[in-house]
Amino acid sequence: MAVLKVVKVGDPVLRQPTQPVTRITKRISRLIQDMFETMYAVDGVGLAAPQVGVSRKIAVIDVGEGPIALINPKIVSGSDEDIDVEGCLSIPGKQAYVKRLAQVKVEALNEKGKPVQIEAEGLLARALQHEIDHLNGILFTDLVDEKDIIEGDE
Ligand code: NI
Repeated sequence: MAVLKVVKVGDPVLRQPTQPVTRITKRISRLIQDMFETMYAVDGVGLAAPQVGVSRKIAVIDVGEGPIALINPKIVSGSDEDIDVEGCLSIPGKQAYVKRLAQVKVEALNEKGKPVQIEAEGLLARALQHEIDHLNGILFTDLVDEKDIIEGDE
């Protein structure tokens, strides 16, 4: 396994629509392992493939409830609203309060290609929406007014 370089805002790969995965090849499996290792190395709770320069529909998440790999994920339903603070490994030093769905149901394939359905709330629901946005070229800073972006000192 390997820790990959996380690309930063300004890199066009973060804005490209990603391609779906049609077959879980060895290369895709290795990429997922490397994405987990990269996410843990930088203390993130989620990472999407474009953030390591790969324009495919793959994301990994671990909000402290165990690792979740998502291939071709999509939100199939959601309810209520929740506002909480959010950051992104590709936008270091910036945070904002972002309005998201409070509960979501997501369908995806897992790392073995098996269809899975995830019902989530709280931080996991937020992470799912943040990572799926990445797969559509959307960053959290797109969802708030520029004046509401908080500059940190990371
Ligand atoms: Ni992010």
